[in-house]
Formats: sequence, structure tokens, C-alpha cells
Amino acid sequence: MKKIGISPSILSADFSNLEKSVKEVESLSSSFHLDVMDGHFVPNITFGFPIVIAMKKITKVPLFVHLMITNPEDYVDRFLDMEPYILSFHYEACFHVDRLINKIKSKGVKGFVALNPHTSVELLRDFLEILDGVLIMTVNPGFGGQKFIGYTMKKIRRLREMADELNPNLDIAVDGGVDLNNAVEIVKNGANILIMGSSIFKAENPRKRIEVVKKILNESGFEVDSI
Ligand code: DX5
Ligand code: ZN
Repeated sequence: MKKIGISPSILSADFSNLEKSVKEVESLSSSFHLDVMDGHFVPNITFGFPIVIAMKKITKVPLFVHLMITNPEDYVDRFLDMEPYILSFHYEACFHVDRLINKIKSKGVKGFVALNPHTSVELLRDFLEILDGVLIMTVNPGFGGQKFIGYTMKKIRRLREMADELNPNLDIAVDGGVDLNNAVEIVKNGANILIMGSSIFKAENPRKRIEVVKKILNESGFEVDSI
């Protein structure tokens, strides 16, 4: 069993002092999650290239870029130039998933496909072997601070079962509404990367919040990774 990674989503961080927010939690983080939204694929606009560049300067922690944009193929080259650790794009936004995954992997970056809550994990079966990971959205993408959608838990389990058969090394990242109440169940169902935005950055003490998540995962027998 892989160690569990905790990936704070900076969408909920304090952008007026991003460096401080990042520094506070970086030693407990396996990656930082960056939500790029274009106002087309999702009904919200966040940030793009400059924040990825800034994060590269602020921290050595690997960056997990989550593109929530239409036509991701038009922009991946520029994101790849920034050498993220993981680059994910949405299955629903892309005509040539195989081509794009192979392009990302050819640059030494981990290629993840992201799925909206309603998109079946079964759609990945035929090409699961070429994926480094899958990001399962457990809220409708666009905003931090939403409630975990219950039926998505089954998807995590089904994807892990599929991966056991077809790609045992597959990373499964879960994004949306992950908090202290559901983190253990999510991991028990087969996820190994927990993306957490508001649960960490809106906590009174973000560092302590991650320590608590770590503790409850440890108590359930899971090892947690950090840099
Ligand atoms: C939502 C984003 C998430 C978001 C998670 O569209 O993809 O990464 O930051 O935030 P929380 O953990 O608050 O649901
Ligand atoms: Zn995200």
C-alpha cells in the first residue's frame, strides 16, 4: 500500500499572503494542488500561469496542477514548461485523451485524468494502463468549500478495484469536500492522495489540521507521506 499524500489546495489559501500560507504547511504536504479555472469549463475563474510560476519560487514541494479548462491541449505545453509534478486535465474537456496523456508523460510529468462526479470510471478501463493517476472530483468542480457528494465514494472503490487488475501503481486523488470526517473512509476505499482546500486553509490552525488528519489516518493503519 502506498503512503498517503496530503495535497493542500491553495484555492482556499490567503492570496494576499500566499507565501505565508504555503510555508506554514509545506513540511506536512506531499504536493500543493493548484486549481486553474477558465470560466468556460467551470463557472468560475481562478488563476493561471503567473501563480504556478510564483509557487515554483515559493516552495520546493511538488506542484499538482488541476486544469479545469476547455481545450486543455492548447495550454499544456506552457504548463509543462513550468515542470509541475502532476498535470491533470478533464476527460470531459478533451477529444484526444490518449494523445495528451502521452505528451505529458513524455516530458517526465505525471499525467492524471480528472473526472467530474457524474463521469463513470468505467470510461477509463480500456486505457487505464497508460495513466499515472486519476483525479476523482467529489464535488462539482468550480468552487472550494462544497459538500462531498456521497455517491462518488463508490467510484473510488470501483476505480481501485479496476486498478488492482489493470494498473496496480495507479494514483487515485480525491478532490472536493475532503475533511476530517471522511478522510479515512476515502482512503479505505482506495484513494492515496487527499486534496484538501477549505478544510486546511480555513481552519484556525492549518498546520494543526493536517497533523490531525495524519493522526487519524495513522490510527487507522495508513502511513502518510510528506517531503
Ligand atoms: C474544486 C477544486 C478543488 C477545491 C477543493 O473545483 O478542484 O481542488 O480547491 O476545495 P475543498 O477541499 O474546499 O472542497
Ligand atoms: Zn482541484
